[in-house]
Parts: sequence; structure tokens; C-alpha cells
Amino acid sequence: MKALSSFAAVCLSALVLAGCGGSDDAPAQPQVIAHRGASGYLPEHTLGGYELAIRMGADFIEPDLQITKDGALVAIHDDTLNRTTNVATLFAQRNGGYKVSDFTLGEIKTLTVVPTGTGKASYPGFTPSSANAFAVPTFQEVVDLAKKQSSTAGREVGIYPEAKQADPAMEDGILKTLAANGYNATSKVFIQSFSDATLRSLRTKQVAQNNKMPLILLGVATTAADGTARMGVTGATGVQALTLKDVAAFTEGVGVLINNTTYPVTKSFIDQVHAAGLKVHGWTFAQADAAPAAAEFRKHLDMGMDGMFANYPDLAVTARNAYVQGK
Ligand code: G3P
Ligand code: CA
Repeated sequence: MKALSSFAAVCLSALVLAGCGGSDDAPAQPQVIAHRGASGYLPEHTLGGYELAIRMGADFIEPDLQITKDGALVAIHDDTLNRTTNVATLFAQRNGGYKVSDFTLGEIKTLTVVPTGTGKASYPGFTPSSANAFAVPTFQEVVDLAKKQSSTAGREVGIYPEAKQADPAMEDGILKTLAANGYNATSKVFIQSFSDATLRSLRTKQVAQNNKMPLILLGVATTAADGTARMGVTGATGVQALTLKDVAAFTEGVGVLINNTTYPVTKSFIDQVHAAGLKVHGWTFAQADAAPAAAEFRKHLDMGMDGMFANYPDLAVTARNAYVQGK
């Protein structure tokens, strides 16, 4: 098993379908993806944090996925438990550390996810509807929340899982869970990975299963000497640049690092990705203050970005709505 670098329901209407990965039949409005939930406000990757993001109007919730010792998919960013939970106070280290893969789901379910960064243990005026809202959720529990909140909110809440391990068991777990819950090529879903090998394998399996849910390749925006856009992915020998034709053969879009001086996201890059038939999502919009956040969202929306991973989904929704309304 190789760790990757840190970097629903069926849509029911043309408007909702436009936000899905599987169709370009109608103009799509830029999508707000709650990065690790409303992670700027509440503990990341928790049912409470995802629910707050949905209440704030996020189109998608994003679970990063790891695998427990007994094979369960859980939503947590790191391959270790100690940064985001109270594992160090409840358990001794295993094999010199706190790897998710050394703990059973039952053990992980005894933990509490703690606030990090600007996150807090609670959000004013918000009471999560889930029991154990700040435990480490399973992937199935995240799917259940998205479905329940879709019903509550009267709109489809998308789900955007990331395979954090280049492991066939991870690929199989994601596909099996989504298929078992009725997701298909027209659902409001994207599956993401920093590993092009993982996505190529996922696509092969999807074709065999006749269920091509949209895939997104994460990486950096690169440009060849002749001005041609390439997708940069991290390999054994550093960043490798894939042609957009290659990327389009096994994905529906790319997710690119923003605000990087070495790999800047430009309008030319976005235009070329669109010309290749792909969507462009950007990560991570992390400005906490309203004015600089609005400027950062607007800059990327004006370049044509299709989706934004945001730590403060309320700010992203405000900026997206102003953009759509021409303000
Ligand atoms: O998946 C997009 C973005 O979340 C990648 O960064 O490290 O937060 O998973 P990370
Ligand atoms: Ca992620």
C-alpha cells in the first residue's frame, strides 16, 4: 500500500445535472466543494463539519479516505490519527506511531476528532443532527449524511471522495460503496486522486462494471515551452507532465493547486483544459477573511474555474452566487 502525496443520488433536474460530473448538456454554475467539510470552522472530516458545510450551501462535501486495519474506509486526511484526534491520550503508539492502518474501526470509533487550524469545537447557532458528530466517520456514514441532508435541504448534496492510498482495496471500496448506494455516471459525484495510476485503474474497473462515475486527477498546472497546458502529477522522479489528451482518456477533469508561483493556474491553462473536454477544480481556497477570500474566488471564477475546494464554504457560496448573478 502506497501513501499518496498531500497535495447520491442521481441528479434530478437539468440544473442539478449541470453540476454533476457526467454531463455537459446544460451550462454549469461553478461548484463549491467543502474541503474536508467546513474545516475552517469545525473539526475536519466529521459529520458535524460536513453538515455545517451543507447548511452553508456547499454543493459537495469532500471525504478524504484511509483504510483501517480491518478494511473499513474512514474519512480522515492523514494516514495517521494523532494530528486530528485524541488517539495519543487513549492509546499507546502502534509500530512506533498512530497509523490508521494499525487500528481497527472499533478502536477508531472510540476517538474524538479535535479542532485544528482555525477550527473550533462548536459553531454558533449550529447543533449537528448526527449522534457522535465529531467521531471519525466511515465512508458509508458520509454517504448516509449526504443523502439525508439532500432530503432535508431539498437539493442534491454531492460527494467527492479522495483515494488517499494507491491501493486496489481502496479503489474497490470506493466503487462498491458508491454503487451500493445508487451512484452512477449521472450522479452528483466525483472520485479524486493524486495518483494517475489509481485513476487509470478505477476507470478500467468502472468500464468493466459499466458504471463510469466521474474521475478527477489532482496535481499542478504546468505549461510546456510551446505554451501547451499539461497536468503535473507527482511521480518517483518528481513532477511528471501528462498531456491533456492522455488525461482526458481516463478522467472527466483535473484538480489543481492554486496560488503556487512555480505552477500558476492561468486562464490559458483553464481554457486548454476546457478545450480538452475536462473540468477544472482548484484547491485549496483557505482565506478566512471575507474581502481577500472574495478576491481570490473571483480571480479564479473569472478565469473559468468550474469548482472550488474551500475551507470556508459560506464565503465560497457568497462569491459564487455574486459571480453567477453578474455582481
Ligand atoms: O483533494 C483536493 C485537496 O483536498 C487536496 O489536498 O491534502 O487537503 O487532500 P488535501
Ligand atoms: Ca482532499
